[in-house]
Amino acid sequence: MRDAMATAEVGDDVYGEDPTVRALEAEVAERFGHEAALFTPSGTMANQLALQVLVPRGGELLCDADAHVVTYESGAAAAYGGISTRTWPAAGADLDPEVVAAMVRPAGFHMVPTAALAVEQTHLRGGGAVIPLAALQAMRRVADAAGVPLHCDGARIWHAHVADGVPLSEYGKLCDTVSVCLSKGLGAPVGSLLVSSAARIARARELRARLGGAMRQVGILAAAGRYALRHHIDRLADDHARAARLAEALAPYGVVEPERVRTNVVVLDLSKAALDTAALVAAARERGVLIGALGPRLARLVTHLDVDDAGVDRACEVLPALLAGGSAAR
Ligand SMILES: Cc1ncc(COP(=O)(O)O)c(C=O)c1O
Repeated sequence: MRDAMATAEVGDDVYGEDPTVRALEAEVAERFGHEAALFTPSGTMANQLALQVLVPRGGELLCDADAHVVTYESGAAAAYGGISTRTWPAAGADLDPEVVAAMVRPAGFHMVPTAALAVEQTHLRGGGAVIPLAALQAMRRVADAAGVPLHCDGARIWHAHVADGVPLSEYGKLCDTVSVCLSKGLGAPVGSLLVSSAARIARARELRARLGGAMRQVGILAAAGRYALRHHIDRLADDHARAARLAEALAPYGVVEPERVRTNVVVLDLSKAALDTAALVAAARERGVLIGALGPRLARLVTHLDVDDAGVDRACEVLPALLAGGSAAR
C-alpha cells in the first residue's frame, strides 16, 4: 500500500485533475452500479454530504436511534444542514419497516416533512450486525411509497457483502446514496466515498468544497484506497472469524451472544459485569488489549487487519480473566 501511494500519479483534484482520484471514484461507483462517486476525507463528511443533498433545510431525516449519523458526527446534520432528525427505536440490524413507514410525515402546513430515510450497514452500535437483504428491500419499498430517497451509511458495507455474499451492486440498487469507508476494515490510512447519481454527486462536490473538503494532490491517498479495494476485501472473512472467536471466549461471562456476532465488531453489554466500561478499558489497556467505550456499560472490540491470531489469543486470555475476577485479575 505504501509503495502504491509513493508511486501514485497525481494532479490537482480541486480542478478534477487527479487521475488516481478519478480512477478510484469511477471504480467505486461501478462496484455499486451507480453513475458517480466522490472522494471525501472521512465517512462523516460522506454521510453529511449525502444528508445535505437529500434533505432540504427544515426537512426531516428518519433513522434509527443508534445510527452513527445522529449518535456521533457532532450534530452536523442540524448544525450544517439545518436538518431535523426523528428516530425509530434502536434495533441494530433488526429493522421493522412497518414502524418506519408509520413514522413518515407528509409535507403540509405546520408539518416537518420527511425528506429521506437512512440505514446503517453494517450497524456499528448494533455490534456489526448485518441488515438482511429482505429488510433492505422492504425499506426501499417504504421509501418508494413515501416518495423519499434512501441513504445507506455503508462505512462497513464491505463486511456485509463478505458476511452475506450480497453483491455490492445489489446494495447500490436499493439505495439512492451510499457512503463507504476505505479507512476502517479495509485498512487505508484516510478516505471515504459517497456514491450516487451524477447529479447528486455534482451537488455533493459543491458542498464538499464549501466545507473545505476539496483536496489537492490527493491521489496518494486514493492510491491507498485502490490498493485496499484490490487486496483487503476478501480477507475481511478472517476478521469476522477472529471476532467470532472472541465472542465465543467471552460468552460464558454473559456479556455477548456469539450468534449475534456476524462481522468484525463485538459489542460487550457490561450491565451485569463486575467491571464497568471505564474499569475494563483501563485494565485491558494495561495488559495490552485496546477496547473502545460506547457507554458506561457498553464496550466495543473490533478486529481488523492489524489484529492477528496472536492478538486475539491475547484478548481471549486477558478479557475472560478480567470479567471473571474484576480489575485485580492478571
Ligand atoms: C457506521 C459509521 N459511519 C460513519 C463513520 C464515520 O467515519 P469517519 O470516522 O471516517 O468520519 C463511522 C466511524 O466509525 C462509523 O462507524
